[in-house]
Amino acid sequence: MEVYLHLLFFEKNMAVRIVIGAQWGDEGKGKVVDILSAEADYVVRYQGGANAGHTLKFDDTTIVLHLIPSGMFNGNSKCIIGNGVVVDPIALVEELKEVESLGVDLKERFFISSSAHLILPYHKVLDKVKEKNRGSDAIGTTGRGIGPAYVSKVSRIGIRMLDLLDMASLEEKVKKNLKDINVALKNVYGEEPLDGDEMIAQLKPAVEIVKPYITNTTEVLHDALENGESILLEGAQGSLLDVDHGTYPYVTSSSPTAGGACSGSGIPPLAITHSMGITKAYCTRVGNGPFPTELEDAAGEKLRKNGQEFGATTGRPRRCGWLDLVALKYAIRLNGMNELTLTKLDVLDDFETIKVCTHYKLDGEKTTVFPLDTEHVERVKPVYKSFEGWNTSTRNISNFDDLPAKAKEYISFIESYTGVKFTIVSTGPKRSETIIL
Ligand code: GDP
Ligand code: IMO
Ligand code: MG
Repeated sequence: MEVYLHLLFFEKNMAVRIVIGAQWGDEGKGKVVDILSAEADYVVRYQGGANAGHTLKFDDTTIVLHLIPSGMFNGNSKCIIGNGVVVDPIALVEELKEVESLGVDLKERFFISSSAHLILPYHKVLDKVKEKNRGSDAIGTTGRGIGPAYVSKVSRIGIRMLDLLDMASLEEKVKKNLKDINVALKNVYGEEPLDGDEMIAQLKPAVEIVKPYITNTTEVLHDALENGESILLEGAQGSLLDVDHGTYPYVTSSSPTAGGACSGSGIPPLAITHSMGITKAYCTRVGNGPFPTELEDAAGEKLRKNGQEFGATTGRPRRCGWLDLVALKYAIRLNGMNELTLTKLDVLDDFETIKVCTHYKLDGEKTTVFPLDTEHVERVKPVYKSFEGWNTSTRNISNFDDLPAKAKEYISFIESYTGVKFTIVSTGPKRSETIIL
């Protein structure tokens, strides 16, 4: 029966779509997932943790989601935190309360994988002390404990959601891990050791709230596939922050790219029908690491001001620059993206000139290859094609034909360069400010 499973998906015309950041994060994935979730039976986060900040704006509501999938507010899709996510139970409870306060009934609609790993208070402490210790080589992490939690997972000392179901065993595991961690905190980082009893007491109330949502989500998703239901896989971060394919070591510790969607949810690769990349009409990055098209001038400042480019999780100002087509093409190839969404077109409305990077010069040589050596990414010089700005507002436009001709020209150039069509163009943060093609 399994052999014919993928044929079945197509017979039932079911969409299993991954939504992936095509840059360094914050491309507007939350907005897009919120819109697409109206048509989805399931929305699944598959990697990362509360380092993500996905902003949704509808009616008079603005909410930033860090762990809960962005499918809670538009329609009735079931939302899953998949096995590949690292979950801070204390942060999750805060978010569950916020979502409930907006009138959402989580029962029967929200599930957490029993094999998702936990972010415990010691991971957050380690994240901060390790960053401090790196000095000028700091990655600029979000401080949410992401790196240390994935280290625990890979070194096979991680504690999982299913461990929350047995408090005595949880306590034993936390205390066992703390023994090693406290030695490192004291002797390597010169910090105070952490108290196990205090940590357990801090966790207990959150555990009680989270417990009812823990289940075998792999099974839930396999059943959904067999029943021909549609699934939206919500990536966090972006392709260029991928631990394998990004600008290492200035990356996150998970795989936001398409492969990560399968391992982080249990959905088999042949079930994926669509890979959608989200790109801004320009480019941003938070934290450290190379950014070839970064603008450290008035134009960069204007992008930050127009685009309100401040981190949704940490509030840090985002670094801004022109759209980098070399990097975008790399992301498209990494993920097999067969559709694209362009966000924040409106941010370019009052620019006299708009530039896009079409290739790099590396030591004088022209290249369209995104280098794997981060030191080379630091050294490349972007070469630009300039476009005349359209100098009129595109904000709130929801019909492609109503866009100014110069904006259409800009869009069409990106499509011809990448060979992939835009299926959504976003002209503002709200749901209504969207062109569906
Ligand atoms: P995510 O992490 O990819 O979900 O993106 P973030 O929520 O961190 O950042 C995107 C920001 O841009 C949010 O504040 C959104 O409300 C906003 N946004 C999304 N699409 C548009 C758009 O088309 N135009 C404008 N002006 N803002 C947008
Ligand atoms: P969303 O899902 C933008 C960046 C951090 C830092 C690096 C490593 O909202 O797009 P980490 O805390 O993950 O160890 O930090 O990754 N980063 C993000 N940048 N958007 C995000 O998420 C990010 N999540 C992590 O700034 O440079
Ligand atoms: Mg974000």
